[in-house]
Amino acid sequence: MKTVGIGLLGAGIVGGSLIRRLVEEHSAIEAKTGLNLELRRVAVRDFAKERSIALDAAVLTIDPVDVVDDPNVGLVVEVMGGLEPAGELVLRALRAGKPVVTANKALLAARGPELIAAAEESGVPLLFEAAVGGGIPIIRPLSETLAGEQVQRVVGIVNGTTNFMLTRMSEDGASYRDALEEAQTLGYAEADPTADIGGGDAAAKAAILASLAFGMWAGIDNVYHQGIDSLTSADMKWAAELGYTIKLLAIAERLEGGVNVRVYPAMLPVAHPLAAIRGSTNAIFIEGPSIGELLFAGPGAGGEPTASAVLGDVIDAAREILAGAQVAPRIQLSSAELVPFEDVQTKWYVRLEVDDQPGVLAQVAGEFGRHGVSIKSVLQEGTGDDATLMIVTHRAAESQQRAARSSLEELDNVRSVASVVRVESAAP
Ligand SMILES: NC(=O)c1ccc[n+]([C@@H]2O[C@H](COP(=O)([O-])OP(=O)(O)OC[C@H]3O[C@@H](n4cnc5c(N)ncnc54)[C@H](OP(=O)(O)O)[C@@H]3O)[C@@H](O)[C@H]2O)c1
Repeated sequence: MKTVGIGLLGAGIVGGSLIRRLVEEHSAIEAKTGLNLELRRVAVRDFAKERSIALDAAVLTIDPVDVVDDPNVGLVVEVMGGLEPAGELVLRALRAGKPVVTANKALLAARGPELIAAAEESGVPLLFEAAVGGGIPIIRPLSETLAGEQVQRVVGIVNGTTNFMLTRMSEDGASYRDALEEAQTLGYAEADPTADIGGGDAAAKAAILASLAFGMWAGIDNVYHQGIDSLTSADMKWAAELGYTIKLLAIAERLEGGVNVRVYPAMLPVAHPLAAIRGSTNAIFIEGPSIGELLFAGPGAGGEPTASAVLGDVIDAAREILAGAQVAPRIQLSSAELVPFEDVQTKWYVRLEVDDQPGVLAQVAGEFGRHGVSIKSVLQEGTGDDATLMIVTHRAAESQQRAARSSLEELDNVRSVASVVRVESAAP
């Protein structure tokens, strides 16, 4: 029997599900893989907390260093979350030559190169399938199966909370506030939902996806991100009228001159495969010259799906330990050549509240034209004193679109630029 001792940092939502699998499905895993995965140490913060699976008191500790340093632990699973002490513990394990499996996207996005370099130096795996897309296999397909593909673009719906909220807003007319409250009641949104609704969580995942897709480190600081907090149900209604739906997208794209990585809410044509991704489901859409289009979709969070991805990594790492081979790096650590967001060509949807007077439309079109932005379509609603103009532009550099927006705000007959949402379609 091939035995590997597992040390677990954290026994919360993901860790709790993993413990259940390792205990209850021990024989089934052994029968399927030939591996005897023994849970030897588990670190938690609160010793007295009730757990769904009772663990031997000798296994539990409140000092996570005990787990990493235990000579009977050959493989460390980090599911405690946060940057510290998780970061130092992962480094400590890797430097001690212990493979690490983590689900911590925030840590990877912040300190990925340092952790990957430590894993390389020790020749042990650092695996993180659960860090993006929860239970969806996406890290391994990108870093291994598609390693030879010149990936053009990765577009993901990688935050279940915001996708749930946007679905409620677009399909049921829920207000932003009601949708957020419902997401919190159902346990999709954290008590402090800032990272979800502000786009920070999706940005960390976008940085990881970009690094795998393009084989170089993109860096979280280079990811432009905007959340969904300025969207209203009126935007949803108008999007539908124009044949679009609004999704929070994480986009990593190969452009002339380099790579751009960004997160923002965008209108997608209703026929786009990602437009059909509803509720808390996540999906990642990959475009490449040889594979064409690939769609990976499924549960992006939750204890059981996420633990499934973690367990897959544990089995993979255990096999590598037992094979005794030095592990080749899966990501090159050179920095990506980056295209600044201001230079990225995007289409914009702009909703303007204007005075309903002759010549206003011409004035508006003139301001767009002055900044080199041409208009694709215009829809007007309202009679009397005021009107609403819904404008979709052709592609222009982000900097030009922003300059046009600023000019519009200066026009006397424009009461407000009520909303701006970028419009995405196929790769340019
Ligand atoms: N939840 C998901 O659906 C999901 C999906 C994908 C990825 N992830 C990632 O998975 C990781 C874990 O998430 P989670 O939802 O399982 O978190 P969680 O429910 O908050 O669990 C965290 C666990 O870590 C323990 N812990 C925290 N700080 C500690 C410390 N300083 N010393 C010892 N133990 C400590 C906690 O102990 P106590 O139990 O005593 O409080 C708890 O057991 C995060 O990186 C998260 O981003 C989660």
